Amino acid sequence: MFQAPRGTQDILPREQPYWHYVERVAEKITRLYGYERIETPVFEESGLFIRSVGTGTDIVEKEMYTFTDLGGGEMTLRPEGTASVCRAYIEHGMASLPQPIKLYYLAPIFRYERPQAGRFREHHQFGCEAIGDEGAVVDAEVIDMAWLFFETLGLKGLRLQINSIGCTQCRPAYLTALKTYFQALPLCPDCQVRLKKNALRLLDCKNSSCMAQIQNAPRSIDHLCSACAAHFTNLQGHLEQLGLPFNIDTGLVRGLDYYTRTVFEIQPELEGAQSTLGGGGRYDGLIEELGGKPTPGVGFATGIERIILNLKRQNVAMPAPPRPGVFIAWVGERAQNEFLRLAAILRRAGVDAAATYSSRSLKAQLRLANTLGCSYTVIIGEEELTRGTLSLRNMQVASQEEITPDALIARLGQV
Ligand code: HAM
Repeated sequence: MFQAPRGTQDILPREQPYWHYVERVAEKITRLYGYERIETPVFEESGLFIRSVGTGTDIVEKEMYTFTDLGGGEMTLRPEGTASVCRAYIEHGMASLPQPIKLYYLAPIFRYERPQAGRFREHHQFGCEAIGDEGAVVDAEVIDMAWLFFETLGLKGLRLQINSIGCTQCRPAYLTALKTYFQALPLCPDCQVRLKKNALRLLDCKNSSCMAQIQNAPRSIDHLCSACAAHFTNLQGHLEQLGLPFNIDTGLVRGLDYYTRTVFEIQPELEGAQSTLGGGGRYDGLIEELGGKPTPGVGFATGIERIILNLKRQNVAMPAPPRPGVFIAWVGERAQNEFLRLAAILRRAGVDAAATYSSRSLKAQLRLANTLGCSYTVIIGEEELTRGTLSLRNMQVASQEEITPDALIARLGQV
């Protein structure tokens, strides 16, 4: 027996109301903030992600689904969305359009992680990227959009954490301070590698002995150059203006190397090991790193599976799925030939019609119509066929009338 691969899941019809709901809210919010949808390939050249996400990150080192295609190309299933959007920005000359370019995506993402509640090997992200403006006002607007998105979904008790991790000017001195601090301490084997390869990742370690040391580590906000410090002050001012409550979390660095200046995360009410609902930040060096002109950018992404987990935990009610407008009940062989034709006519008139395909008693068909929640049932029997009419039953009041096919379409077409 085959099963869905570990860390993946089928999204069954009963789960679809959650997915529709989240996608509808995402589409509404992106429209309000002027974002346009982009879709990029599910796989890209591996080098794109290695360059963007960074060699010393868990994603690149341990989690990428990489394969050699039949032409010898080194490909990777998208482990995040930002790199692909930036690649598309450069490839399609979007720098010549009015900036910033504001794009959003709903896309499957692949990471070979250890599966657990809220952590999958295939998950789906709603993400947005604003490329081409370096002002902190754009960071604030992206955060505001993420916040309103979660609020509109009906999630309560959200917490916003922000930090600034500086830029190419001030980061080197900060990294030196970090290395000096950690060099003197006992480190887990992973952190010994991080110390050499990617010192910022030392702050991400989940090993309990390392976590105790992280608390007293040098803070990036104490090493910002004047431009980064001003940017961070401006961001806080904008967030206050917007009335968004935030905490400065000086240990927040995020797991991807492309970030500069602002990083942020939004946590849900109920914490767990995989609690982060969404996160993002600024990536002012990324477009240049990928071969474009120096171009600033900022964005955000959130995992739809985690959102749905939290919607369920907080008992957020989903809008009821639409019910079929009419059920076609048929009795007898002649009616069997007729029901498909009538269903086709009704559907072309915009009426969604349900029916059974094999013969059942009228009583059983009416029961099914009730279960489906149909407002009307059309009954086709021998008598109706002889007279060239149909019986129309209003399921709410259980009244029945005889009607011509044309009158039926006119009536139901308006329902
Ligand atoms: P990220 O924090 O790696 O950021 O992922 C964004 C969100 O995706 C997480 O907050 C979480 O909700 C969800 N997520 C991540 N991994 C998993 C997983 N294994 N299973 C379920 N959900 C998961 C990024 O990917 C950046 N590209 C975000 C960004 C956009 N930064 C700037 N622009």
